[in-house]
Amino acid sequence: MQNHGIANALTEYGDRQFSLYMRRAFAQSMGLSREALEKPVVGIINTFSDLNNCHRDVPRLVEAVKRGVWQAGGLPLEFPTISLGELFLNPSSMMFRNLMAMDVEAMIKAQPMDAVVGIGGCDKTMPAMLMGAASAGLPTVALVTGPMLSGAVGAERVGACTDCRRYWGMYRRGEVTDEGIDKVEANLVPTSGTCGVMGTASTIACVLEAMGTMLPGGAAVPQVMAERYRIAEESGKLAVAAIGSKLTLDRILTKKAFENGLRVLQAVGGSTNVVVHLMAIAGRLGIRLTLDDLERVSETTPVLVDLKPSGQGYMDDFFRSGGLPVVLRELKDLLHLDVMTITGQTLGQWLEGPYEFPGWQTIIRPRKSPLQAVGGLVVVKGNLAPHGAIVKRAAADPRLLNHTGRAVVFKNLQDMAERVDSPDLDITADDVMVLQNAGPKGAPGMPEAGCLPIPKKLKGVKDIVRISDARMSGTAFGTVVLHITPEAAVGGLLALVRDGDRITLSVDKRELTLHVDEAELAKRRAAWKAPKGPERGYEWLYHQHVQQAHLGADFDFLRHAGMGGE
Ligand code: FES
Repeated sequence: MQNHGIANALTEYGDRQFSLYMRRAFAQSMGLSREALEKPVVGIINTFSDLNNCHRDVPRLVEAVKRGVWQAGGLPLEFPTISLGELFLNPSSMMFRNLMAMDVEAMIKAQPMDAVVGIGGCDKTMPAMLMGAASAGLPTVALVTGPMLSGAVGAERVGACTDCRRYWGMYRRGEVTDEGIDKVEANLVPTSGTCGVMGTASTIACVLEAMGTMLPGGAAVPQVMAERYRIAEESGKLAVAAIGSKLTLDRILTKKAFENGLRVLQAVGGSTNVVVHLMAIAGRLGIRLTLDDLERVSETTPVLVDLKPSGQGYMDDFFRSGGLPVVLRELKDLLHLDVMTITGQTLGQWLEGPYEFPGWQTIIRPRKSPLQAVGGLVVVKGNLAPHGAIVKRAAADPRLLNHTGRAVVFKNLQDMAERVDSPDLDITADDVMVLQNAGPKGAPGMPEAGCLPIPKKLKGVKDIVRISDARMSGTAFGTVVLHITPEAAVGGLLALVRDGDRITLSVDKRELTLHVDEAELAKRRAAWKAPKGPERGYEWLYHQHVQQAHLGADFDFLRHAGMGGE
């Protein structure tokens, strides 16, 4: 009896032969021949949605993957999963990442297939895809939708969404008119694809390429380019080959592969969000990845890629400059080259061959003259963040990276929205803005609210120290301390900060300290009450089971059994 492809995961009737006969009968109703039904099955995970602009061309990518699967002798079967469009979800897409990961895992396990091509792109979709696929345990090829092209406002090039934020800041300061901001709005997102800067989507794509889960060169090709569809076709072939070689994610995503991922995250000046996602994927595989691992590579990894939000260029420039393979070749001596990739070659093998640095371009820098000598992300710890917090120093005003100031506290997102622009707000540019209760449980869902808006009364001020348990968009910039753990909503010290307290941020000393004596803190702690959580539905499940940021904000019951209750 057939024991692969369509015969996987048979519906239970207590008679396997009967189950297979019934399944084939219903599958043949879709016009598939008996011959086709005997081939190995590649499940293609389709994340198209009218509520996800970044995935607009996914149906065409699915068609291209199918071509590749047929060519390699497999049977492609497409199925949908939840799609997470960053700008179309309330309260934030992060709250639904774990839901999508559960859906991906459950549907891979429950349906008949031998391998998977997971198509995603918008920020949370590839992390969710990899979390689910890692737990499901089948060979998986990651295929990103690819970035959008940059647009133009008059003579100026623009790209989502660093320029969205820059123009909005100018509008708030009165430097752009109502008419002007409408024109910007109409031109910021000119094509299909993910955000065209080194935001979260581009960063996770680069990191997944470095970690060997997709075709070499697969991260940076824009969604509208013909090459994107050739990559999709090739991904289909790769999935069929991976069935034979049994290249499951646990063989590819080893601790060394994650260390390579963290290196690349630093070298591309990538998004802080990707740290949380990598912790979550690692947790699914029983790999202990910590903020100390990130900190270890920080001082020894140069930033080589000059893209917004911390640099100048856009993802289409990065693609034309050679994309991630150039970065990987420049970093070669810092990478573990013996790790396996989905191509069936080790990273070292696919980086072999003649190579000359593309000296005609300035977006990717050679090792001998990096953009910055050390990595963009650092970890700070202290009484305010015993398990750590993250600062993107590459996107911060260097004058503020070592700073002590007076706390100006917002109790939650609503409080911030109501008071931040009040003329009565007692604040100066030397203060430290503090946002509480915006972490995984607090908001809930750890929204990208950590880059607090600079109060309108601080006219002309472009940066100020901001600290919170929230995340920040990968396209944002500023001196922003994020992912403080433990978060305020579980009683972390962040919950006890009051207006006027002194706070020190020292990136040089990797320190984040609240200067309040123990007796006073004990008094505040005795009066503290946990905010009320949701009472039903997915929100309740999320609130009950989400873990802290340093563990990836995954659900406790979805992490690998070997990870224990840390
Ligand atoms: Fe989808 Fe930015 S909104 S990647």
